[in-house]
Amino acid sequence: MTSNAPIGIFDSGLGGISVAKEIHALLPHENIIFYGDSAHAPYGVRSTEDVQKLSMNVANTLIEQGAKAIVIACNTATSAAAELMRSSYSIPIIGMEPALKLACDLGAGQPQHVIVTATELTLREKKFAALMERFAQTHTIEKQPCPELVDIIENGYFEDADRVNATLHHYLDAYPLDSVNSIVLGCTHFTYYRDYFRALVPQHVRIVDGNEGTARHVRDVLAERDELASNNNEGTIILLNSSDDPRMMELSNYFWSL
Ligand code: DGL
Repeated sequence: MTSNAPIGIFDSGLGGISVAKEIHALLPHENIIFYGDSAHAPYGVRSTEDVQKLSMNVANTLIEQGAKAIVIACNTATSAAAELMRSSYSIPIIGMEPALKLACDLGAGQPQHVIVTATELTLREKKFAALMERFAQTHTIEKQPCPELVDIIENGYFEDADRVNATLHHYLDAYPLDSVNSIVLGCTHFTYYRDYFRALVPQHVRIVDGNEGTARHVRDVLAERDELASNNNEGTIILLNSSDDPRMMELSNYFWSL
C-alpha cells in the first residue's frame, strides 16, 4: 500500500523549512505541508509547558489537514513536546535532537571537543541531558545557546552579514576553536548559517546538523508502515505560517529557495 496523504512538518518558525527541503530532496513523491509558527517564535526562550501547548495546537492543525505523519522540524519542540504528542496521536511523530552522536562518531574513536549550539530550552531539557550523559565521559562537550540567531532569521536580517558575524563572534570568541573538532547546529534555524560559520571557524572544525538523518528517518518510518507516496505522485509543497505579517510568506519562500 502507498499513501499520498501529506507529511506534516512544523517548526517554531522558518528554520524547519531546511528540514522540509531535505525531506523533499530525499522523497520527491511526498506531498508536504510545512507549518511555521512564527507568530509564536521563538520557542527556545519559552517555558516547556508553553511549547507543549503551542506544539499540540500546530499538530492538531496538521492532523486536520490529513497528515499521515508529523515531523517536528524543531529540536526545541521535540525536547518539550514529542513525548506528549506521541501519547496523544496514533500517527508517527518524528522528532529531532542536536546531532551530537554524529559529531562524536566523526572522531572515529578519538575523544572529541564539540560545541553544541541550540536554544536554551533544548539545552536545559532532560532529553539533551540524557544525550550528554551518553557522550560526556569520553568527549568534551560545550553547550552554547544562541537565541539571537533565531531572531535574525525571523526578523528578516539573515543577509545582514555584519550583524550575523558580530553575533557569531559574540557566541564563539570565548572558545579555543583551534582545539574544537565540531560545532553542532542543534537548532533548525542555525542550519541556514552554515556558510557564515564556515567562514569564521578554522577549516578543520566540522559543522554538523541532523537534517539529513531526520529525512532518512522519515523515509524509514514511512517505508516500514507501507505509507510512502506512490512513485507516480509528483510531490507538492505547501508552506503555511501562523503569522499574519505578509513578510513571513515572503521569507518562507526565500528560505525554501536557498
Ligand atoms: N528551530 C527551533 C529548533 O530547532 C527553535 C527556534 C526557536 O527558538 O523558536 O530548536
